[in-house]
Amino acid sequence: MDHETSTGHVTRKTVLRAALAAGMAAPAVLMGVPALARTLTGGEEAPELTPTCDDGDDPTPAQMEGPYFKPNSPRRSSLLEGNTPGVRLTVSGYVFGLACRPISGVLLDFWQADTNGAYDNTGFRFRGHQFTGADGSFKLTTIVPGLYPGRTRHIHVKAQAPGRPVLTTQLYFPGEPRNNTDSLFDPRLLMTVRDAGGAREAAFDFVLNVPQNPGPTPTPTQTTQPPGGSWAVGTAYRAGDAVTYGGAAYVCLQAHTAQPGWQPPNVPSLWRAA
Ligand SMILES: [Fe+2]
Repeated sequence: MDHETSTGHVTRKTVLRAALAAGMAAPAVLMGVPALARTLTGGEEAPELTPTCDDGDDPTPAQMEGPYFKPNSPRRSSLLEGNTPGVRLTVSGYVFGLACRPISGVLLDFWQADTNGAYDNTGFRFRGHQFTGADGSFKLTTIVPGLYPGRTRHIHVKAQAPGRPVLTTQLYFPGEPRNNTDSLFDPRLLMTVRDAGGAREAAFDFVLNVPQNPGPTPTPTQTTQPPGGSWAVGTAYRAGDAVTYGGAAYVCLQAHTAQPGWQPPNVPSLWRAA
């Protein structure tokens, strides 16, 4: 867990994500974020802009590797082989450093279960690694992983910028019933997923703990708002519960027990602005 985020100051990105979650038009001043702005569009292609990321103050949290990682996966961005059964899925996004700059040449090694929830532990089905492009982007072509006992739906990934430590984590799907009962589930690792003609298109942006020279300072208008309010760690919230945090009101979208870093609007899957 990354406790840097538990201070809970409202950032440019979290404001934008909250706006997205609430279905609101994000303030224009926040919209210089193509990788996120893309998730706003209802099927249109993203504008071809250089991604400018966000404040980068909350690196993607780590998660356990689990028992099924294998080294030496093949280099490939598509895990489909022939007529692989399963619902087609693409996962695309960017990898950023701490100053919101995209990182090229990042190793992304994905592994996941097949449509029946089984890992290939003898071969390399549904295992593959790739490197981010010059703009920090990646795209994985695969299927929606099946469920297996004890876990909600997820994709494993290791991300490593050149010369930096490996981040091992997992990506999750919104709207999965088991998200509420899987103790590993972390809503900060939810992908944005939409239907695309029987297939699924997911988006996720990684922020790696990689120092970078800061670029232009993001608009600081929201960063001085002090945290605080009725939201409290350890509270078991239910859908519909109302809290205040950082001077704003939020409504709970999904039952959960509050943990550091999950405060609104950090986690759009859990809280929407009231
Ligand atoms: Fe797994």
